[in-house]
Amino acid sequence: MYVKLFGKTVKSRENLFNFEDLRIKIPVLFSQLIVAISGLEKVFYVILGMHKGVMMKFINEEIEGYAISKSNRPSQYVKELGDETRANVPMSMMLVGEMEGSLLGFLVRSLKVKRVLEIGTYTGYSALCMAENLPEEGEVITLDIDDELTPLSKKYWGQSPDGKKINKVIGPALETIPKLDGEFDLVFIDADKQNYLNYLKLVIPRLSEKGIVVVDNVLWSGKVLKAPEELDPTDTSTAHIQELNDYVSSSSELYGTLLPIRDGIFLITKV
Ligand SMILES: C[S@@+](CC[C@H](N)C(=O)[O-])C[C@H]1O[C@@H](n2cnc3c(N)ncnc32)[C@H](O)[C@@H]1O
Repeated sequence: MYVKLFGKTVKSRENLFNFEDLRIKIPVLFSQLIVAISGLEKVFYVILGMHKGVMMKFINEEIEGYAISKSNRPSQYVKELGDETRANVPMSMMLVGEMEGSLLGFLVRSLKVKRVLEIGTYTGYSALCMAENLPEEGEVITLDIDDELTPLSKKYWGQSPDGKKINKVIGPALETIPKLDGEFDLVFIDADKQNYLNYLKLVIPRLSEKGIVVVDNVLWSGKVLKAPEELDPTDTSTAHIQELNDYVSSSSELYGTLLPIRDGIFLITKV
């Protein structure tokens, strides 16, 4: 039997509580509730600025998977460190991942790098990718403002035969770098974007003859394409990354190649 309710024709009470009907309706309502919750989650994600953690993919995932499968990849220790980071540590998208890890390893190996300076350790994934490709006497000095993740890094660095080449220094990198001595064959910049150009200017004079600087996230999910007036007023990173990119491309003393791999990688050397 049908009755009019709020201008719509619906089944009468006795039929609304028909158990056969409810058996179908409950799962449908439940799935609609889940969709609504996940929609709300996305809204909060954007409002709270957590969207900064989502990285745009420039390369087709299948193509990237194929490229990774044909490349020399970081070791099982690095893989397990990555897996544990993704399972237990917030902001795991900050990991360079296998493709960039392989590239960092290639650069260390092919340039016969002995001394690496890394700015931004996080859980120590990229540090281990580079250490694995250093000679026995090689060294990675990795800087981070935060000590909280050191035990996790050390768990995997301790298992790997190459972990002993890594030395982590805690503190704001701008203060730590001037206290370090010697030259570096490779500097990997992957920390706070606001200081990207400051880091570059600090490390260029510290490069060895064959030295290079590798800067991560220089495409910043494509946001570098935006004009100043199009930038979100809460965005404190994009303008600084654009500043670094402009500086390198207009410098007559630097030779740079910006690779659209992962989130953009700038390879820079002195002319
Ligand atoms: C993108 S993560 C590094 C990821 C790492 N290279 C990897 O792929 O395994 C950036 C790191 O920079 C660190 N950081 C942020 N500001 C810093 C500062 N002023 N000095 C040193 N480290 C800083 C953060 O604590 C964070 O761990």
